[in-house]
Amino acid sequence: MEKEMGAYKAHCLVIPFPTQGHMNPMLQFSKRLEHKGIKVTFAPTNFIFKSTVQEVSGSIQVEPISDGYDEGGLAQAESIEAYLTSFQNIGSQTLAKLIEKIKSSGCPVDCVVYDSFMPWAFDVAKEFGLVGAVFFTQSCAVGNIFYHVYQGTLKLPLTGPKVLLPGLPPLEPPDMPSFIYVVGSCPPFFHMVVNQFSNVDKVDWVLCNTIVELEKEEVDWMAKFCTLRTIGPTIPSMYLDKRLQDDKAYGLSMFKPETDVCMKWLNDKSDGSVVYVSFGSLAEVGVEQMEEAASGLRGSNNYFLWVVRASEEAKLPKNFVEDTSEKGLVVTWCPQLDVLSHTAVGCFVTHCGWNSTLEALSLGVPMVAVPQWTDQSTNAKYVMDVWGMGLRAQPDKKGIVRSEEVEHCIREVMEGERGKEMRRNATKWKELAKEAVDEGGSSDRNIDEFVAKLIHP
Ligand code: UDX
Repeated sequence: MEKEMGAYKAHCLVIPFPTQGHMNPMLQFSKRLEHKGIKVTFAPTNFIFKSTVQEVSGSIQVEPISDGYDEGGLAQAESIEAYLTSFQNIGSQTLAKLIEKIKSSGCPVDCVVYDSFMPWAFDVAKEFGLVGAVFFTQSCAVGNIFYHVYQGTLKLPLTGPKVLLPGLPPLEPPDMPSFIYVVGSCPPFFHMVVNQFSNVDKVDWVLCNTIVELEKEEVDWMAKFCTLRTIGPTIPSMYLDKRLQDDKAYGLSMFKPETDVCMKWLNDKSDGSVVYVSFGSLAEVGVEQMEEAASGLRGSNNYFLWVVRASEEAKLPKNFVEDTSEKGLVVTWCPQLDVLSHTAVGCFVTHCGWNSTLEALSLGVPMVAVPQWTDQSTNAKYVMDVWGMGLRAQPDKKGIVRSEEVEHCIREVMEGERGKEMRRNATKWKELAKEAVDEGGSSDRNIDEFVAKLIHP
């Protein structure tokens, strides 16, 4: 029987992991669901709820749960282990309370969509007899690698020069996620990413923020053991699928973008003349690496717009901002989608976080990949060798990408023959991303299928 709840046909409770790179795609997915007639309640942690600028479009309701660290989140915790344990315990309790509260308001939840880093949310969903949908915010390739570790088909530490796994191209050890390449680099996060698969065979849906045409073999392989559906790229509609014209930003920002300054500065620059640089929302770049990046940027002699978060600013070389003010603009946060879609931007020097990678790919901007940790080295491998959309800057033996390498890669992408090829590929991927989310595209059809099953279980 078709469910009706006012104007809505079903109700999803969406629970993100509390970092920018995880909230963005899940919030954007929420907006797509809402556009298709599903009521959405978005439940970040109390700390995120209190500390972000909330500009969520439409009628998505934001209702927090607790991770036990309401005043400071992970930064307030004694250790990562303590944080994750507390999030599981207190998160489960407060999630259950939220489901009860919503029930008593007369519009009960039908489905919990939760971040793959929090498999415990599935147990809570099942206590209430709800549909459980896990959301993978990272690439399918990265998911496959962690699944191989989970089921014991990838033994650690890695041995030999090549890693050969079904569903993946041949990889070298430095292409692997940092928690695998450097065994023991962060045991709690390693455990968390492997544990994503602890109940994946039981969940009702596995939603992955990717495009099937981008990761065909990876998706086919993962779909053998779970109900996988690709739903990406989760980028605000204005940039790709024009159905939601006013949908221009993700909606919950942990940082305040310097929008006017950035856009004004870009507007004065000619097409393809600016290098945009950002290492994302989490990476803590070492002082030496920061100096090398600064020197390489300067040496490339291009205009540059560099996002250096306030917590990283002290690592910039002395007087760098003043000395380079004719060529560069340094800001603490920018409206990244506006920047990437600006015609002045010719290249993106990126840490290759999955959102940044998908955004550059979907907006057709070639990349220089300078991965820092977690999944970023695998994304960088794909950017260069699988999708032909960029160069991965090679680090030296100390793991530092030197200034000459930064400069060389920027010049190659901005001016070299390979850059032209990358731009051609970029146009192809941009088209493909748009088609995937447009009406009837591969991701759009998958979202329709998910929605239809919620309405007619
Ligand atoms: C983290 C991990 O680093 C990443 O590898 C993983 O895939 C997701 O979680 P993060 O460092 O936040 O990600 O990078 P990324 O995934 O690229 O997400 C950053 C988001 O912030 C993007 O959506 C980007 O558009 C946005 N952003 C970044 C801004 O809006 N303004 C900025 O100035 C920089």
